[in-house]
Amino acid sequence: MKAVTWQGFRDISVEDVADPIIKEPNDAIIKVTSTNICGSDLHLYETMGAFMSPGDVLGHEAMGIVLEVGREIRQIRPGDRVVVPFQIACGECWMCDRSLYTQCEKTQVRGEGSGAALFGYSKLYGQIPGGQAEYLRVPEAQFTHILIPEGPPDDRFVYLSDVLPTAWQAVEYAGVPDGGSLLVLGLGPIGDMACRIAQQKWIDTVIAVDLVDERLARVRSRGIQVVDLREHEDDLPEVVRELTDGRGPDSVIDAVGMEAHGSPGAAFAQRVAAHLPDAVTEPLMKKAGLDRLAALYTAIETVRRGGTISLSGVYGGMADPLPMMSLFDKQIQLRMGQANVKRWIPDIMPFLTDEDPLGVDEFATHRLPLGQAPEAYDMFQRKADGAVKIMLKPWV
Ligand SMILES: NC(=O)c1ccc[n+]([C@@H]2O[C@H](COP(=O)([O-])OP(=O)(O)OC[C@H]3O[C@@H](n4cnc5c(N)ncnc54)[C@H](O)[C@@H]3O)[C@@H](O)[C@H]2O)c1
Ligand SMILES: [Zn+2]
Ligand SMILES: [Zn+2]
Repeated sequence: MKAVTWQGFRDISVEDVADPIIKEPNDAIIKVTSTNICGSDLHLYETMGAFMSPGDVLGHEAMGIVLEVGREIRQIRPGDRVVVPFQIACGECWMCDRSLYTQCEKTQVRGEGSGAALFGYSKLYGQIPGGQAEYLRVPEAQFTHILIPEGPPDDRFVYLSDVLPTAWQAVEYAGVPDGGSLLVLGLGPIGDMACRIAQQKWIDTVIAVDLVDERLARVRSRGIQVVDLREHEDDLPEVVRELTDGRGPDSVIDAVGMEAHGSPGAAFAQRVAAHLPDAVTEPLMKKAGLDRLAALYTAIETVRRGGTISLSGVYGGMADPLPMMSLFDKQIQLRMGQANVKRWIPDIMPFLTDEDPLGVDEFATHRLPLGQAPEAYDMFQRKADGAVKIMLKPWV
């Protein structure tokens, strides 16, 4: 089959690889009909190469049709239409019982000290072949699926794999009080969708920040107040405070992550590390910490005293300096983590109705054949051609 593979720093290629087969009695194989590129894939594309091996199949936002199931699988059968959550979870361990699916004790990657295995997400997360491919093997398929109805096009449901539950969890974790205010940093797919969800939850004040024209325009067009970071590199916290009674927002969502704009030192270190041998970079990434923390620093500085920061942007390092004094003195609550996808599906499903209040049908800016993945990654990374969300189609 054809699959999108990681080959090196900013080097992606579409290769012929072996078709996946059922290996365990609780596996399923799906024929992938739509599969997105995510901001998280950009971390692998650039910064986290030390944890990738040439030939690794990328992708964790896939949906399609069940082709085959192992002998223990009763919950889905060939012909069913499913979305595949980005994390692999058993659905029955101690963590899964508590809806902490990204901590599933059956799939945790203990050798790396990581939580639940993820599709297409480096050896830190189990080196599981990903979903940017014609077919996908789904382990723990008794739970690692979301059954969806026939009918509407894939666009309606494909974001259940990641964007929707991640944005939903970000808003939940932000814990905005009644009548309160929310600042969203970063208007990629996650921040954009978090703004839409915040609107649906009737959060009174939502302020959104980015530095890319199309992304600001997309969010503004839905009636959300935006601030262009390029115009406020030096005074963003003051500008936001002025908009929130002088105190700062009750809650801030950081939907930026480790490649934030505005962290020149770390940006340089990330670039250097990307060209060192893995044996050098791996401990460097894990221990020295090469995160670009500009967005997180903004969140800490801007949130009101006693407020909450909800982190959905992915960070990876260990020793980056954090302003502990401000965090402690301002009495900030921090909540974070990979989204526990299936925890939020029942809450989200009613929004995927005929009226499409979240605008998922038009959410993708590009729908491209799988074979154009290298160009698609490049475009998404450079934020060129208005690319916000790119869907890859293996069968067109
Ligand atoms: N927690 C989870 O389960 C989960 C799931 C999916 C994605 N993520 C993470 O969420 C983050 C966002 O993902 P995405 O798909 O929206 O990616 P993205 O890269 O498209 O979006 C990031 C946005 O942040 C903006 N930005 C950069 N620096 C900024 C700054 N200093 N202030 C404000 N905005 C800034 C960029 O212009 C961009 O629009 C990534 O770190 C991704 O890994 C986490
Ligand atoms: Zn994703
Ligand atoms: Zn489990």
